[in-house]
Amino acid sequence: MKILVAPSILSADFSRLAEDIRKVQAAGADLLHVDVMDGHFVPNITIGPAVVKDIRKVTSLALDVHLMIEDPLKFADAFVQAGSDMLTVHIETVTIAELKLLRRKLAAAGVKLGISLNPPTAFNRVKPALPLVDFVLVMSVNPGFGGQEFIPGAIDKIRRVREVFKGDIAVDGGINAQTGAQVVGAGANILAAGSYIFKAKSYSAAIRSLKCAANR
Ligand code: DX5
Ligand code: ZN
Repeated sequence: MKILVAPSILSADFSRLAEDIRKVQAAGADLLHVDVMDGHFVPNITIGPAVVKDIRKVTSLALDVHLMIEDPLKFADAFVQAGSDMLTVHIETVTIAELKLLRRKLAAAGVKLGISLNPPTAFNRVKPALPLVDFVLVMSVNPGFGGQEFIPGAIDKIRRVREVFKGDIAVDGGINAQTGAQVVGAGANILAAGSYIFKAKSYSAAIRSLKCAANR
């Protein structure tokens, strides 16, 4: 599977977001990972649909919108209308019936559906959702903040997902060249990375190193 790198704008400079986005696009990003936090599901607050809509205007990259919010069903339409290409919800926040509803809604809009699970959430919890989604986003940190350390338990979880799931597997949290190689080895193919890319001197060198590490 082709390895895709998705810079997470959580670690960008929000006072010059458009510029940072153009720079990562020019540096070889495949997707743009956009973290939406509500201060309830996670202990932090970020951005809403209005900002996603404006981001849509400044890049041709696919927008990979990661909803870390308590009530994703309530806001899904707004994020679709804002121009999301991929929408991820957390298994901790939805029932399977809600996921089915979301799947129908997103399919009609041509938006891909992803399911995510936090580090303490067991693989078995996400299993019934797998036939309903286009991709799985395995969290390798407890969501809320960039720059945290990779939790190694994610590797085994990725392996278990890959055993039964043929679609894309994304990983989010603490990804760098070293952990990137480990998760790709376990079966992941989309690397969301915030601080590793945006804190690097050269965005393109950082993105390249993720792809190279992954090819090893
Ligand atoms: C964490 C977010 C991540 C975050 C990753 O809650 O979902 O997307 O930006 O940041 P790094 O790559 O710095 O761990
Ligand atoms: Zn994220």
